[in-house]
Amino acid sequence: MQYNNLLDNKTILITGGTGSFGKCFTKYVLKNYNPKKIIIYSRDEFKQFIMQNDMKEYADKLRFFIGDVRDKERLARALNGVDYVIHAAALKQVPACEYNPNEAIKTNIHGAMNVIDACLDSGSVKKVVALSTDKAVNPVNLYGGTKLVSDKLFVAANAYSGTCDINFSVVRYGNVAGSRGSVIPFFKNIIDKGGRELPITDYRMTRFWISLTQGVELVIKALAEANGGETFISKIPSFKITDLAQAMLPGCEMPEVGIREGEKLHEIMVTVEDSLTTYEYEKHFIVYPQMVWNDKQQIIPGGKKVEEGFSYSSGNNTWWLTIPEIQELLKDVDLEA
Ligand SMILES: NC(=O)c1ccc[n+]([C@@H]2O[C@H](COP(=O)([O-])OP(=O)(O)OC[C@H]3O[C@@H](n4cnc5c(N)ncnc54)[C@H](OP(=O)(O)O)[C@@H]3O)[C@@H](O)[C@H]2O)c1
Repeated sequence: MQYNNLLDNKTILITGGTGSFGKCFTKYVLKNYNPKKIIIYSRDEFKQFIMQNDMKEYADKLRFFIGDVRDKERLARALNGVDYVIHAAALKQVPACEYNPNEAIKTNIHGAMNVIDACLDSGSVKKVVALSTDKAVNPVNLYGGTKLVSDKLFVAANAYSGTCDINFSVVRYGNVAGSRGSVIPFFKNIIDKGGRELPITDYRMTRFWISLTQGVELVIKALAEANGGETFISKIPSFKITDLAQAMLPGCEMPEVGIREGEKLHEIMVTVEDSLTTYEYEKHFIVYPQMVWNDKQQIIPGGKKVEEGFSYSSGNNTWWLTIPEIQELLKDVDLEA
């Protein structure tokens, strides 16, 4: 655990707190810190009921608010006395966002605007961290497009902080190993049904490997270190999808079935254009905003500016997982129901 006492006696609100990230973050914080209160903000009472039951031993620390990020008044009420906000609520299924574009825009963009306004107006919130995704980088689908706009809103929100002691930052990572709709549960389903071949959309395809806990730790780093406007990106290993297939079903046939609409060959985290304002640290990168709005924005010490033209993607990574390493990591993967 890092940053001793960082969250002790703090009140933290998580939008989308019943989601995969929210549950993992909540458990991690309750295990490692002594927060005053964690407020779970989301719409579905059933998911809240289940979470409340699963975490009974922490009942005195947890509060469950039914609310929608589209509802600014409700957000304002929920933020009363809150110190830190993690914005994790989103519509994130690519096909659902394509088919329901207005809904994706209302939740991912209008919701982001509401969270920012409510935090700025709260008078108590000091730090806000919003979750981003590799799909927001050079987006090719509406989900990525809405998350790109959301990232821009959170970075630019620092320009409106005025004399308030509040900062906004972003944490970006790719598909979490084992998350719903990702390749590991897809292959596992085929294997469980007795399949002997694992289809590969393109033999060149690569991905980053990140666990939910690593995502949570990056958010805690952002809470601890951000001055405002940073996008934090972990340095993590890559793997080839063909190696994942061989790790899960050694010796299997791997028919190449063709890339799907809206699918990228590699997960991109830092673009060549971002390289102008990107710094490399021991365990992460930070993309700083190209605009400077106030003197609160500062480069965090300990980093080195990357070369112009640098980019960071799962395809050009220098750290690769071998098949035995993938097999080891697979033992700890929690598959989402
Ligand atoms: N999972 C991944 O692999 C991954 C990778 C990179 C980035 N991310 C980002 O990480 C964040 C969290 O992802 P996740 O995997 O935890 O998602 P998730 O499991 O689908 O959870 C989404 C959460 O948001 C809530 N929510 C949805 N719409 C809402 C609204 N209008 N108002 C309030 N709450 C709402 C949901 O609860 P209700 O439906 O009950 O409201 C749920 O608690 C997202 O921003 C996502 O873009 C995820």
